Amino acid sequence: MPKKQLPDGWEPPVPAWQTEYPESVREIVFAYFGAQRPEGAKPGEFVSQLRASILGNHEPSFVTRATYVDATNFRNDVFIAYWPSLEAYEAWWRTSEFSSWWSADNRVSEGEGLWREIYSVRPQRFETLFSSRNPTGAAALGCPFGEPVREHNYWGGMRDRIADTTLANDSFEPSGEHTSASLSVEESRRQRIRVDLPDNICLIRSGQDFSQCGAQERSTYEDVVRPHLTAGMAFLRDNPIESGCLSCRLMDEVDLDGQFAAKSFGLAAFSSLAHLESWAKSHPSHLAIFESFFRMVEMREGKLDLRLWHEVLILDAQGSLCEYVNCHPNTGFLRWFRP
Ligand code: HEM
Repeated sequence: MPKKQLPDGWEPPVPAWQTEYPESVREIVFAYFGAQRPEGAKPGEFVSQLRASILGNHEPSFVTRATYVDATNFRNDVFIAYWPSLEAYEAWWRTSEFSSWWSADNRVSEGEGLWREIYSVRPQRFETLFSSRNPTGAAALGCPFGEPVREHNYWGGMRDRIADTTLANDSFEPSGEHTSASLSVEESRRQRIRVDLPDNICLIRSGQDFSQCGAQERSTYEDVVRPHLTAGMAFLRDNPIESGCLSCRLMDEVDLDGQFAAKSFGLAAFSSLAHLESWAKSHPSHLAIFESFFRMVEMREGKLDLRLWHEVLILDAQGSLCEYVNCHPNTGFLRWFRP
């Protein structure tokens, strides 16, 4: 078994928690459904269709909604849903009215573009980290948080928390270089396209929950930290070759009815775990986020109600399904992989 990077005798200066799953959990399904339209254009039916059938028979164990404007200036409405097994997701997809709506021929010729990026991932191939005992995302499907985790607060902690690093001696090497798919608008709009992902793409959802912050803490966050977060996410979005980041979306979370939830998250896919590690450890744009956070901790003398969390997934080709219907060519993985 390879050794972890955990320094000998390491005791993290602050506590953090990770999720554990019982052996009965073979995989978790992380499902992203989105719809895009030029910013300012009238929304189509996506939100009302999905809102009407996401809950009910075979519903996900956890679901949330978000919104963002992409680099092409399209507004995207997104639902993020988690199922405790592939069977559970497939049972929902088979029986929900949403899937019939999604699959209908008309969808390729309407005003909005639709995308879904669905990943089925074994617990041994993802990790979570929470600054407080308030689970969200995949952690909402795990065991209640136990003792704080030792593997954090040093560069390399993320890799150490992914079980297959040691269990399968896996270093999650990238499978080849990615060059732009260069689809034209004609090749992507009015089309229904599936793209196959290579193995070992690494996906991070890194969340900031300021819903519990008082007014003063919130304004410190907005002034001191948020500008660096926005800049870091724009850097990743706009510099794919330098960073190895294939797609980066900074989203505002909303509740299922669309009300702002005082939470945000960056959703970013990298060619490999090593690319994400390198950006986090060395790039000025993450270091600026990181340092601004510690400035905020100092300013507030350690008293924070801000909650930070993330989940990091190593995807595999077989467990991923990415479909783009009537989307612009810069959408998600459509930008990189030809159908
Ligand atoms: C690690 C701060 C946003 C990627 C960390 C750590 C802190 C931090 C304090 C060390 C965590 C630990 O091990 O205990 C922040 C803050 C953010 C933010 C305050 C936003 C306000 C992001 C975003 C991404 C990201 C949006 C990626 C899209 C990472 C990664 C690590 C990390 C990958 C782990 C590196 C490793 O263990 O090797 N960040 N971060 N962070 N951050 Fe950020």
